[in-house]
Amino acid sequence: MAIAICPGSFDPITNGHLNIIERTAKLFDEVIVLVLKNPTKVPLFTDEERVDMIRSCTRYLPNVKVDAYSGLLADYAHQVKADALVKGLRAVTDFEYEFQMSLINKKLNPLLETMFLNTDSEYMYLSSSIVKQVGEGGGSIADFVPAAVREQIEKRIKENI
Ligand code: PNS
Repeated sequence: MAIAICPGSFDPITNGHLNIIERTAKLFDEVIVLVLKNPTKVPLFTDEERVDMIRSCTRYLPNVKVDAYSGLLADYAHQVKADALVKGLRAVTDFEYEFQMSLINKKLNPLLETMFLNTDSEYMYLSSSIVKQVGEGGGSIADFVPAAVREQIEKRIKENI
């Protein structure tokens, strides 16, 4: 059974993330969407909230599970015997950072491959930070995040202003 992990901070999940998860679910037997800590970011949502939001958006994908982990991604991947990490690449600007992460993860867990899926063109501009910025500025985030979690995201952004 081929197992993939879609890792990220998902703070919050966007339509771009969901697109990558859907496409990964077509390629692998099992997909684990894994909420991790990115030490360079201060999260708006707790790990539990992010896991719950991703679960409510991915219920229709039977081979997708959602989990959170506070340690190294490479260790988690070893524990669940994952074959690959799958990440979306939006533009050349993502590449250097993602390439560095993939090399570190391979060094820590030599059996682990990282695969990149090109983001579909309609999501090229999209990121969790952009969603938060638009929401903070009073703009509509309806086109950027899954409908199931839109209100929850809007509420938290407003509370945080
Ligand atoms: O969505 P992001 O914020 O770009 O995802 C980055 C993330 C969370 C995948 C990355 O920071 C990560 O893997 N964090 C867990 C700790 C780890 O394993 N770091 C890589 C080796 S230093």
